[in-house]
Amino acid sequence: MKNSLTLRRPDDMHLHLRDGAMLAAVAPESARDFARAIIMPNLVPPVATMAQAQAYRARIMAALPKGAQFEPLMTLYLTETTDPADVEAAHLSGLVKAVKLYPAGATTNSHGGVRNFDKVMPVLEKMAEIGLPLCTHGEVTTPEVDIFDREAVFIDTVLDPLRRRLPQLRVVMEHITTEEGVAYAAQGANLGANLAATITTHHLILNRNHLLVGGIKPHYYCLPVAKREKHRLALRRAATSGHAAYFLGTDSAPHSDALKEHACGCAGCFTATNTMPLLAHVFEEDGALDRLEAFTSLNGAAFYRLPPNEARISLVKSAQATVFPPKIQSEAGPVTVFDPGFAVHWRVQP
Ligand code: DOR
Ligand code: ZN
Repeated sequence: MKNSLTLRRPDDMHLHLRDGAMLAAVAPESARDFARAIIMPNLVPPVATMAQAQAYRARIMAALPKGAQFEPLMTLYLTETTDPADVEAAHLSGLVKAVKLYPAGATTNSHGGVRNFDKVMPVLEKMAEIGLPLCTHGEVTTPEVDIFDREAVFIDTVLDPLRRRLPQLRVVMEHITTEEGVAYAAQGANLGANLAATITTHHLILNRNHLLVGGIKPHYYCLPVAKREKHRLALRRAATSGHAAYFLGTDSAPHSDALKEHACGCAGCFTATNTMPLLAHVFEEDGALDRLEAFTSLNGAAFYRLPPNEARISLVKSAQATVFPPKIQSEAGPVTVFDPGFAVHWRVQP
């Protein structure tokens, strides 16, 4: 049995750092273990232009602890008025690594997102031309579609038609939660390597029973919502397969406890603090510790055409369970750290 593991420093290819007091509290949590992260642009107002991304990046850098080795990889929030020339300039400058598509109304701060795809075709065509990836929040928002079916319906009615219309567009299916998502990503990746999918830590651990049985668990509520067990198992097989189509995007999404434990609670699990030990546990359970590095440190970098990180982190396993902080404190209130509901014996060596 392996009791220690050294990996290239991981990248988190889907992260919410927020702004202001929350940014100050959570940025050090990601910088501790991760080398780089794709930073989500769903602030209020959204990070929609190159100038906004530049300013947000500066605020992130200022929030990092002294000496932190952490590079935020910026994204732009796609709106129906996004200017293709601004996107191209942001890409050419090296600042922006992706554009994020939120179907309007799909999740936290997505009301400025896309309703009519015809309006964003000029931007998407430019992105296809320059090789800039589109990160998709892959859920339809049509009220008639059941929330548990929204990902599969998005693939059939939005993503697949879009990829047929623009086969050169590079797409990341963010935080997939279904066996349909797993299968579509593999099929597309095998055909031309212009499709990939991120998988979160929490979706490898939770099914919808964890969320709903024995009382509603607001800290397990996220979007896309956790699905039934067969889907979680499909995600586990995908993540632990080592296949280049799948890589880590934690979707670590802090909200204060007051907003989570609420009559209309916010979506998001905060996993930045303990993701790497949790993933070591999951991969060990599935006999795939030797493929953890592909998932956290190689596949994502390769898709984003970045060199893998040279620095390393080490994880160690002890007989005693690791104690993670139950909450981190921020001036915006306490934030609950994701509790997997089982003992974890791995920890990152400081
Ligand atoms: O659970 C989620 N939280 N899913 C998202 O898509 C957005 C995120 C957030 O920003 O809170
Ligand atoms: Zn997200």
